Amino acid sequence: MKKRLLTGLQSSGTLHIGNYFGALKPFVDNYQNYESFLMVADLHSLTTVRDAALLRQNIIDVVKDYIAVGVDPKEAVIFKQSDVPEHTELAWIFECLVTVPFLMQGHAYKDKVAKGIEATAGLFNYPMLMAADILLYDAEVVPVGEDQRQHIEYAREAANKFNLAYSETFLPPQELILTGVGIVPGTDGEKMSKSYKNTIPLFGTKEEIEKAVMGIVTDSSGERPENVYAIHRILKSEAELAPLYEEHKGKYKNLKDALAADLDAFIAPMREKRASITDAEVKAILEDGAKRARTHATEKMQRVREIIGISL
Ligand code: ADP
Ligand code: TRP
Repeated sequence: MKKRLLTGLQSSGTLHIGNYFGALKPFVDNYQNYESFLMVADLHSLTTVRDAALLRQNIIDVVKDYIAVGVDPKEAVIFKQSDVPEHTELAWIFECLVTVPFLMQGHAYKDKVAKGIEATAGLFNYPMLMAADILLYDAEVVPVGEDQRQHIEYAREAANKFNLAYSETFLPPQELILTGVGIVPGTDGEKMSKSYKNTIPLFGTKEEIEKAVMGIVTDSSGERPENVYAIHRILKSEAELAPLYEEHKGKYKNLKDALAADLDAFIAPMREKRASITDAEVKAILEDGAKRARTHATEKMQRVREIIGISL
């Protein structure tokens, strides 16, 4: 039997190629080794999004992004958190087991409040809803970014608290921190990040890619424009690039044109795939995912209700 994997995504806007190589590709390359669940954390998004039309759009966009980069909705269960009400039910049960001082140690909570996000009870309890997301499915492996490490510790703690208070019921999950590829540099040579405005959009049009590439910062000292080369190396090996950079030594414009063409060749199939997915298809995928997710969640939750004494 394959181990279970679950991960959740809050929609955070347009993706860039740094997100692809850092987070999406490692997931796409590995999810078939597990029984995988890919959840849209729409209830978690309510801690920051209060615009219904925007939330609807974000939910659809996340699903399209994942399908476009190669997740097969038949292989992974793609579902929306709010379609499985057991998540909030289990979160409440965990909230009755963990203490306020324990939740107060949350880095994500403190960081978000420091950034000006309102300190709502939902934001404070966020880790217990996330623990419920994971534990409801007996997921042992949870691929996340480094910033989510503590949340997985919280999930382990919720499992332990429950197991100790009642009986062995939940498996403590393990984080799978995706760091293998290192950091994709942006057009200024710094880490590519939406906050630095140095990105190359993952589903960008040919024109958008060209514009981003032409904006790569180059100094005129060397024969090789290092910031161009650094991005090029993500797509091609040193051996493949050597003749190109030798032939166009010092000709930065030619090298940028070559990079833009290579980026477009790499992005075009994903861009086309994304454009071909209709909102109706996304809704059908989520409907099917909800059914598959619910079969696991209802069974597990029924056992939990019996264990804690609310099921007569
Ligand atoms: P951003 O820095 O653009 O705000 P996020 O923090 O939303 O990106 O990151 C989403 C995921 O993409 C994380 O798992 C993160 O590790 C990965 N990621 C973001 N930027 C890069 C990058 N430049 N190189 C590699 N991975 C990245
Ligand atoms: N908190 C995660 C993030 O912001 C999203 C998330 C919600 C999640 N529930 C999850 C991730 C369960 C993994 C497992 O990125």
